[in-house]
Amino acid sequence: MLIQSALLALAATAVNAVKPLEIKGNEFYDPDTGNKFEIVGVGYQPGGSAGYKPDDNKDPLTDADACMRDAALMQILGINTVRVYNIDPYLDHDKCVSIFNAAGMYMIIDVNSPLPGEAITSYNPWESYFGAYLNRTFAVMEAFSQYPNTLLFFSGNEIINDKPSAKVTPPYIRAVTRDLKNYVKQNFKRQIPVGYSAADVRDFTYDTWNYCQCTIEGEKDDMSRGDVYGLNSYSWCGIKATYESSSYNELTSNFKSSSVPVFFSEYGCNQPEGEPRYWNETVALYGDKMNTVFAGGLVYEYSEEDKNYGLVDLKGDSAKLLGDYNRLKNKLLKTDWKTLLATKASKKDIDAPKCDEKLITHDGFLANWTLPAMVDNTEDMIKNGVTPKRNGQLVDISDFSVKLKVLDEQGNELKNLKVVQMKNDEVNYPGKVTTDTGKESTSTGNSTGGNSTKGDGKGDKDNGAAFTAPMILAAALPALAMVFA
Ligand SMILES: *[C@@H]1O[C@H](CO)[C@@H](O)[C@H](O)[C@H]1NC(C)=O
Ligand SMILES: *[C@@H]1O[C@H](CO)[C@@H](O)[C@H](O)[C@H]1NC(C)=O
Ligand SMILES: *[C@@H]1O[C@H](CO)[C@@H](O)[C@H](O)[C@H]1NC(C)=O
Ligand SMILES: *[C@@H]1O[C@H](CO)[C@@H](O)[C@H](O)[C@H]1NC(C)=O
Ligand SMILES: *[C@@H]1O[C@H](CO)[C@@H](O)[C@H](O)[C@H]1NC(C)=O
Repeated sequence: MLIQSALLALAATAVNAVKPLEIKGNEFYDPDTGNKFEIVGVGYQPGGSAGYKPDDNKDPLTDADACMRDAALMQILGINTVRVYNIDPYLDHDKCVSIFNAAGMYMIIDVNSPLPGEAITSYNPWESYFGAYLNRTFAVMEAFSQYPNTLLFFSGNEIINDKPSAKVTPPYIRAVTRDLKNYVKQNFKRQIPVGYSAADVRDFTYDTWNYCQCTIEGEKDDMSRGDVYGLNSYSWCGIKATYESSSYNELTSNFKSSSVPVFFSEYGCNQPEGEPRYWNETVALYGDKMNTVFAGGLVYEYSEEDKNYGLVDLKGDSAKLLGDYNRLKNKLLKTDWKTLLATKASKKDIDAPKCDEKLITHDGFLANWTLPAMVDNTEDMIKNGVTPKRNGQLVDISDFSVKLKVLDEQGNELKNLKVVQMKNDEVNYPGKVTTDTGKESTSTGNSTGGNSTKGDGKGDKDNGAAFTAPMILAAALPALAMVFA
């Protein structure tokens, strides 16, 4: 009996796992097949940054019924990566992560939060860089370190927004990256990548990228170097915009030489206000011109919040698809995914530039790589690990049906919705799971009567300090270890 259920559990957990990906040069790739990986992602932060309520023991990955519904709807879109902005490291995320894993999705985790003391601030960064801040961020990484579908950690989001912040924060961004990477190296089995997610303030976009990717002494394993560069990009706006008018051509030619993967950590401009989003930029992003330079992107954002960026409107326990959902679904199907996903990664190291004032073009940007020394008890925490901590593990999920109600845009209920369990090592992609989700419309999906003010590159939706929260994805190998533990 015991043996039998252990075997069943083994069979159930061992079959559904995406595997850890690796990075070489500017690409993510699957180490077994050698195939390159493109992020088809979405930001997941139900309730906006205000929805993060550690005092109520809640974050976006704590409610399994909501995760099941949202993973099912993301799976139909073809999503393979979810970004979660606000995590309470001490809560139990196992069910949600296991659901996303089974759905064939990876997770990008922001280690910060909008609460005071939980992120580096833009104007007096030295006041926010202290031991207790790092204690919590290390615990966030601990929480996700053993899930195989943790793709990477964001060390910061939109800390550089303007000239005053560009003048003081760069060394702090690299210092936090250094501390996080050292913690990962010392404490985890897998060197999970760490990088920064930048606001697309065009004066500083390339300076920030170069500042983060360069090597201070020329060593490849420079611990303060970002492993990836995420850009929150909102410059493709409206139905008439093109690759050229949006300046995506300029982004593509500038990032061509990147030594690390570059991707849109948020995109989906909703200006002019009141117009639907047509996702023409999505077709360009995965097309020939861009897909060798960008490792994909994450749509902002899954749920409708007060700035009207949602694909789905969540109200209490019910969910309704908005116009953006089917329009995005149909545009994602324009790419030939089978061919793109079977493309081999080039697996070539690309030399990073050496850090030098000449790399920095804007006089408002601090061209100084003298980093603040490790603060307080940081070295000790890196050496011994933090306590308390909670190391998440995949768990067995027996029922993948969606229990919460979902309506399509016309108000018809979507019946028999479920998460389709992927086979072992399988990752989701657009067209993989086909489910009728109603007709495409031209409505904006302004169901909450909110407003939209984005598109200025500043990137601040409704998330005070830094982030949003996506759902997550997949985990795998640790499942085996767990069964026998
Ligand atoms: C880290 O934070 C926890 C919880 O607040 C605290 O109990 C612990 O002593 C801290 N650890 C260190 C090394 O500062
Ligand atoms: C963007 O997509 C819409 C809807 O598919 C299409 O009507 C429009 O022509 C596209 N815009 C451009 C500039 O191609
Ligand atoms: C760089 O910053 C450090 C630390 O703030 C400072 O001591 C040093 O003088 C700066 N270097 C230059 C060239 O300004
Ligand atoms: C959104 O809805 C509100 C209330 O119905 C309305 O006042 C507002 O103009 C709408 N905004 C857009 C962008 O359609
Ligand atoms: C939307 O934002 C604009 C610009 O901030 C403001 O003028 C307008 O009153 C807002 N509309 C609504 C419906 O909140």
